[in-house]
Amino acid sequence: MRLETERLIIRPWQESDRPVFHRLNREDEIMEFFPFRRTPEQADPVMDKLNTMIAEHGFGFTALERREEGDCIGFCGLSRTDLEPFFADGSVEIGWRLLPETWGKGYVTESARRLLDFAFEDLKLEEVVSFAVHDNHRSLAVMQRLRMQRDPARDFDHPGVPDSHPHLKRHTSYAISRNQWQSAKTGESA
Ligand SMILES: CC(C)(COP(=O)(O)OP(=O)(O)OC[C@H]1O[C@@H](n2cnc3c(N)ncnc32)[C@H](O)[C@@H]1OP(=O)(O)O)[C@@H](O)C(=O)NCCC(=O)NCCS
Repeated sequence: MRLETERLIIRPWQESDRPVFHRLNREDEIMEFFPFRRTPEQADPVMDKLNTMIAEHGFGFTALERREEGDCIGFCGLSRTDLEPFFADGSVEIGWRLLPETWGKGYVTESARRLLDFAFEDLKLEEVVSFAVHDNHRSLAVMQRLRMQRDPARDFDHPGVPDSHPHLKRHTSYAISRNQWQSAKTGESA
């Protein structure tokens, strides 16, 4: 799988991405809304598993490479959720995590727009969902920028968050259907 945008390449992970993947799994600023940190030794098999899933499904949490600089800056991708009963079996989420020095430049929104086109036009999905810890405002702002719709009926307490981190349990949900995405795009170009 390989997709391109004006500034970015969306692709599977490469060996040279490992130092970035390690940072994405252990830095407090990046992992503020996650109840765990991974050592490089713990992160390495996760990166390998992401590539296996990308190869198997034709999509996954894919790396983002800047076309001009040639560097990996994080990930943005589509992934099957494993969160029944909150999301039905077969649901696909869109998610993202970037190195902090690359926040605030629109890279996630740019790549997510391309991924939503891919989701609806190539994968023929009916809906894409997204969710974040209730006060992860930067992530929720991306969902809003993409014109995803708030879906309070699917807000949930994440079963993977331990009782030691109560403030990270409550998750806010958004979703967008194929029709809503088409309308959002038409509205933008009008
Ligand atoms: C969530 C996260 C990916 C958002 O990154 P981001 O850079 O803010 O997202 P975007 O790519 O949409 O960029 C939007 C920002 O870039 C600015 N921007 C600059 N150029 C832009 C452009 N061409 N297009 C859109 N936005 C642009 C926007 O004004 C906005 O800035 P603001 O935050 O000051 O309002 C990032 O904060 C992150 O990695 N957080 C840690 C991991 C995490 O929590 N992941 C989500 C778990 S659910």
